[in-house]
Amino acid sequence: MSENGWIKAAHVDDLGPNEGFETDVEIDGETIGLFFINGNYYALGECTHEQGPLCQGIIEGTTVMCPWHSAKFDITTGKNIDFPSACRVTGNVSVGTNDEFESLPDCNTYKVKVDGDDIYVKKN
Ligand code: FES
Repeated sequence: MSENGWIKAAHVDDLGPNEGFETDVEIDGETIGLFFINGNYYALGECTHEQGPLCQGIIEGTTVMCPWHSAKFDITTGKNIDFPSACRVTGNVSVGTNDEFESLPDCNTYKVKVDGDDIYVKKN
């Protein structure tokens, strides 16, 4: 941990433009993912469906689609913008219907700062 609660999470070379990166940082039990979108860094927690790693999802603009069951979130705000709709793993996994996910919560967002070549995150 560094000063004032900032935690070193990555090096600037760890992720390129419009990429996600899974850090080793856990805050309150969830792994923090970094995103580098349109020249800005963002940090999100895990998917609010079943804790999928959003930083490994498919990025389109400022939206990321969870790699597990395709829920979508706004990377800049953490807002849930689409519900789980398809299962991307093999086996008998049910994700239910869209009706069951009308209240899927937004994911957690975290503060991000760059100091030199290092990226730090902090709880909001
Ligand atoms: S864990 Fe993300 S959509 Fe299911």
